[in-house]
Amino acid sequence: MDNRPIGVFDSGVGGLTVVKQIVKLLPNESLVYFGDTARVPYGSKSKEIVTKFSSQIIRFLMTKNVKAVVIACNTVSSNCYEILSEEFPQLPIIEVVTPGVESCLAATRNKIVGLIGTYGTVSSGAYEKRLKAADPNIQVYKKACPLFVPLAEEGWVNNDVARLTAATYLKELTDKNVDSIILGCTHYPILKACIGEIVGEGVTIVDPAKATAQRLKEYLENHNMLTDNTEEAERLFYVSDKSHFEQICSRVLHEDYHAEKIDIEKY
Ligand code: DGL
Repeated sequence: MDNRPIGVFDSGVGGLTVVKQIVKLLPNESLVYFGDTARVPYGSKSKEIVTKFSSQIIRFLMTKNVKAVVIACNTVSSNCYEILSEEFPQLPIIEVVTPGVESCLAATRNKIVGLIGTYGTVSSGAYEKRLKAADPNIQVYKKACPLFVPLAEEGWVNNDVARLTAATYLKELTDKNVDSIILGCTHYPILKACIGEIVGEGVTIVDPAKATAQRLKEYLENHNMLTDNTEEAERLFYVSDKSHFEQICSRVLHEDYHAEKIDIEKY
């Protein structure tokens, strides 16, 4: 048993969609979340810069004595996971792409799938490579949807602007007859209702968050690292700049939390 908290991070509010699933599955685990609100978006930045930001964040989370880190960001997971695992060999690191691939394989029937994510995720080829390795017959159509990130950060999740943006981005994929679409960016589940409206009921929306939480649980179980805490778990939130973080946080988690601003450049 291990009562230390779990660290979770993202470029901003997106990772909260993963926190939501972790809290559901592992309610007794304490969490430390970091949202890099000063430097969001990551999706249009280079691998080198995103790796540097992620290393700083993991070093910060380590000062909070975390027992494991969840990269609740597809851009970081698909571009920097190997480098970060080498840099922090002592720390269990869970990423979101593998659970996303597994959920998609379980969901598709016609083996024509869509992937939406940031430019960084889509151009990394990480999802496509793993999907095709598991099933060479699968067809993957990809579309970067960078504007979903500021919409989610702004809380514009189901208004005319969000709907028009989603319709414009997603037409290419629905025209290809995809039967499932992977939300390959943790910000996108915040716009799930809007995305679902546009793609229609026949398309399964695959959110890797649930399977990521499951993977984390299995890891902790297998390594005897689950908490034995039965008191209310502690959940701490940190950001790198002032933003709408707290508002979106209460919308996603249905609970109010204070987010403390820290200087991430120090780490
Ligand atoms: N939420 C992130 C992801 O899953 C990053 C979005 C961004 O900062 O561009 O890719």
